[in-house]
Amino acid sequence: MEIKSLMKTTSILTFLLVSVIAILAGCADKKVGYSTDPEINEKVEALLAKMTLEEKVGQMNQYNGFYDATGPAPSEGDAKNKLDHLKKGWVGSVLNVRGAEATRELQRIVVEESRLGIPLIFGLDVIHGHKTLTPIPLAEAASWDLAAIEKSARNAAIEATAVGQNWTFAPMVDISRDARWGRVMEGAGEDPYLGSLIGAARVKGFQGDDLAASNTMAACAKHFAGYGFSESGRDYNTVDVGTSTLYNIILPPFKAVVDADVKTVMNSFNTLNGIPATGNAFLQRDILKGAWGFKGFVISDWGSGQQMIPHGYASDLEQVAEMAANAGSDMDMESYSYVKYLVKLVESGKVKEAVVDDAVRRILTVKYELGLFDDPYKYCSEEREKDLLYHPDHQKDALDIAKKSIVLLKNEGHILPLDRNKKVVVIGALAEDKTSPLGSWRIGSDDSTAVSVLEGLDLFGAKYAYAEGAKLVTGPVAFNSELVFNTTDRSGFSKAVALAKSAGTVVMVLGEHGLQTGEGRSRTELGLPGLQQELLENVYAVNKNIVLVLMNGRPLTLTWADEHIPAILETWHLGSQSGNAIAQTLYGANNPSGKLPMSFPRRVGQCPIYYNHMNTGRPGPNTDVFWSHYMDVANTPLYPFGYGLSYSDFDYSGLKVDASDPKAVKVSVTVKNTSDTDGEEVTQLYIRDRFASVARPVKELKGFEKYKLKAGESKTVSFILTDKELGFYDNDGRFVVEPGMFDVMVGTSSDKGLTGEFELM
Ligand code: NOJ
Repeated sequence: MEIKSLMKTTSILTFLLVSVIAILAGCADKKVGYSTDPEINEKVEALLAKMTLEEKVGQMNQYNGFYDATGPAPSEGDAKNKLDHLKKGWVGSVLNVRGAEATRELQRIVVEESRLGIPLIFGLDVIHGHKTLTPIPLAEAASWDLAAIEKSARNAAIEATAVGQNWTFAPMVDISRDARWGRVMEGAGEDPYLGSLIGAARVKGFQGDDLAASNTMAACAKHFAGYGFSESGRDYNTVDVGTSTLYNIILPPFKAVVDADVKTVMNSFNTLNGIPATGNAFLQRDILKGAWGFKGFVISDWGSGQQMIPHGYASDLEQVAEMAANAGSDMDMESYSYVKYLVKLVESGKVKEAVVDDAVRRILTVKYELGLFDDPYKYCSEEREKDLLYHPDHQKDALDIAKKSIVLLKNEGHILPLDRNKKVVVIGALAEDKTSPLGSWRIGSDDSTAVSVLEGLDLFGAKYAYAEGAKLVTGPVAFNSELVFNTTDRSGFSKAVALAKSAGTVVMVLGEHGLQTGEGRSRTELGLPGLQQELLENVYAVNKNIVLVLMNGRPLTLTWADEHIPAILETWHLGSQSGNAIAQTLYGANNPSGKLPMSFPRRVGQCPIYYNHMNTGRPGPNTDVFWSHYMDVANTPLYPFGYGLSYSDFDYSGLKVDASDPKAVKVSVTVKNTSDTDGEEVTQLYIRDRFASVARPVKELKGFEKYKLKAGESKTVSFILTDKELGFYDNDGRFVVEPGMFDVMVGTSSDKGLTGEFELM
């Protein structure tokens, strides 16, 4: 096939050459600078010229909070050593120091006691809210509502900047197709198109229109790159992916956030095709800083430099520093490699001083852009801290996005919404849990601050009786230790079953503990943990009229529930307003409109499972066994990407496709709300490039629109497909658009819609 190659980015080979020349020539041209504001560039150069090599390396060093800055200063040991480093200007940033008072004190030490007084940048994982927590990112992605997602990040920044933070380690834009990986909760799911838009919305929310404002903060796209493809979903595991997946699935969301001006990027724990991300010059220099022209700085992940040693790549910490710095990792988080060895490496010529200068120039630029040199204390305001945390406006917005994030998975016989006048029985420990709904990344918030489901029902005025059924976990619950699940204590079963027997409807609130997803929380089984499945089946034996309310941070395997339970509501971990959002949805005050951002497998053995897979040479189905399938379960997911029901019904008709202008292919469809309930729909457009120089997936999301339709109302939804949507990256990383036949599907989920075709001339 002839390739009408429209090169959207300069070829990777060219950039390889450019970056080799850049490294040889000593990295960035000093005159260029990294800010669009020439005045900032001049200030950065002037400051750089005054800095000693030690001070430059210091800017590249980040420490975790090492003492309680509101208490007495450490007088011995490691903490004293680090405090001395602060005073010498050998620390550019700290993470996990919280509170206006503590951040102010550390800033004071650096500003007043170090020679040049270069302010610190304070980093924290502000992932889905700060004090007020919004739904976990995967849940927010289910809203498909970019404005609400941006708002959520905006409010998070307003709260976090009031306690001294000016840099968040978010958004995580890792695409992942494997629900076994616990960190899927932190991303936007399996699709690069949706993930790119959501990533950009989050960056916009955190950084705002003016980075120098005291309520905006620098964002950090992570983890560059490939972390979401850790083998068998085991966290920190090897990543080995082909070029097509790298260029078309993993990298696009990073490119999108770089285009959205994200100020920092975090590299990653994993190796990518044998090279640790932290020491990966191809990723950081050639692609990120080269081809994409990224102007911010790169931070390592926690200890990811040092981890190049167990990876079998660097032989000792000195070599770590050499490899990481030369590969473009600008700041070291908690490996201590730069602060220990970088000066020596520059003196011996193993790392050019220009490499250090380039990193420092990038870091200082972000600090200037944040306005830290004008007022290093602008983020440390006790008054704002008092006023803004758990602010009612933020709670209101958190409720709004929580409602939008809920996905109705099943509603047989319209069992939902419930009638407020009829009493229900509620079962499940998660129904009264005020912490689990806060999710895994709640570092800035306080335990027990979520509205529980029971509280939500009370506030809504619903009538219910409650039984716990079974405890979910036993033993202590902590961010850094394994949970122990209750697998033996069934003492609560009998009360739950007895209540269920006499109930009209039973609402069972089951799922994952809030700390069962996130970092270090991979699973090989994706069913309901502990005794919950058994409890569900016991209750079902006496009353089949069950509404299953799920709380979880990843896709679960729900095959039994789907076969038996009439109504299933996916509520994820919804944050501070969880119980209100759930109660309002159960009783119809909110009509669910969320759509899954990740496929739900039928069985774990299907993982990784994703809608945009390749066709294979034997897609089947065949009457014999020689086609690509499983003997024991269908190939399809239980609930596909893009799936989600509503209390309304939407009818699709009149698909029109006009490809007369190959630069703007027009697609439209009419959608009617045929029910008597007002609702919201997300219309999705998928394409398939039938034949290409690199085989393309069976479907790719290339457009969507979320909108409200009143009962009986219709609307024409239109899309325009340009080169951007119709092209792809070939195996050399070049963006190409190839003429030929395309399939198009527009509908309500990735597996249901009206289909058409067009030829791209
Ligand atoms: C390790 C995690 O992988 C990363 O996402 C996080 O930002 C850092 N720790 C800092 O907490």
